[in-house]
Amino acid sequence: MSSNTFGKLLSVTTFGESHGPAIGCVVDGCPPGLALAPEEFRDDLERRATGRSRWTSQRREADDIEILSGVYQGRTTGTPIALLIRNTDQRSKDYGDLQGTFRPGHADYTYWQKYGIRDPRGGGRSSARETTMRVAAAVIAKKWLAERHGVRVRGHLAQIGDVVPRAFDWDAVERNPFFWPDAAMVEELEAYVNALRKSGDSVGARVTVVADGVPPGWGEPIYGKLDGELAAALMSINAVKGVEIGAGFAAVAQRGSEHRDEITPQGFLSNHAGGILGGISTGQAVVASIALKPTSSILVPGRSVNLAGEPVEVVTKGRHDPCVGIRATPIAEAMVALVLMDQALRHRAQCGDVGDVAPRVPGQAG
Ligand SMILES: Cc1cc2nc3c(=O)[nH]c(=O)nc-3n(C[C@H](O)[C@H](O)[C@H](O)COP(=O)(O)O)c2cc1C
Repeated sequence: MSSNTFGKLLSVTTFGESHGPAIGCVVDGCPPGLALAPEEFRDDLERRATGRSRWTSQRREADDIEILSGVYQGRTTGTPIALLIRNTDQRSKDYGDLQGTFRPGHADYTYWQKYGIRDPRGGGRSSARETTMRVAAAVIAKKWLAERHGVRVRGHLAQIGDVVPRAFDWDAVERNPFFWPDAAMVEELEAYVNALRKSGDSVGARVTVVADGVPPGWGEPIYGKLDGELAAALMSINAVKGVEIGAGFAAVAQRGSEHRDEITPQGFLSNHAGGILGGISTGQAVVASIALKPTSSILVPGRSVNLAGEPVEVVTKGRHDPCVGIRATPIAEAMVALVLMDQALRHRAQCGDVGDVAPRVPGQAG
């Protein structure tokens, strides 16, 4: 009922609030024998971390992970893996004057209506701080997927406001703080985001995640469809208002002759399906995109009401992030990786004896 756990054979439970003493997760169902050290979490946590650049909010956290259980002599034991990160930058005084108001675009109003009590410090449980633990849990999933199946899950920012990349290069993505695939546009983006920050306003963004190397067969009909579970997992990320698989909403304007991804012995001729048919992976790249809404906490004053229902004006005074989507790429990758590992384990459990079935066409022709 309280839905802090997801996944079937690989399940992840997160806990903690933005400004509590710590956040953490329990990853249950990871097969034994996977080498795992605290240092392996650093890269992805750093990629997600707030304060990684001046384009995102200034909150700084060390995000040092403690592995509390499930790992012995550097290897997973098959028992629950508990991970903990202590919050070291709590600064709840920043939020003192927001206790009695419902910030527009935030979960304040709905949490209040639902629970009748809320932790207002930094959004409490509804804060994107929680997504840190999804990224941490997915370090395990990414590693297992890569080692066991050669699957690589990576993402990039695909649009910010009305700006789209003019070129595409995976190598560029990790070399700029925007996860932007067009290196020649980074200065332009900096100017764009800088102007936004000065205006006190924000914009939305689109993030795309691609999982290469997924074999055919992962995903379960009918209620456990791979695309269905990806959509739910991605939609669970803060500020996500839309999910597309493959061509997504562009499919509306396509003809069947264009969309249907014809198959030849040399491979599929296109990938409008995003690597999934009937809820089951085709062996092509699994492709999912998300739409993130513009940051709600902005310097532009907005109208709301207080606990007494009286009108108030809300203005964010402290940190202001002109586009939360800039930081969402590692989180989206994490959710895709966790869903894929869960589905891989479920496929192995039910269909492990089926083995390789001929013929298997390559993912993409050419
Ligand atoms: C990485 C990330 C960071 C976020 N940081 C902020 C922020 O600094 N300010 C803000 O107003 N919203 C931020 N959000 C969005 C809010 O957490 C979210 O809009 C709010 O909890 C309401 O939930 P909903 O938009 O999913 O309905 C962030 C989202 C993500 C994914």
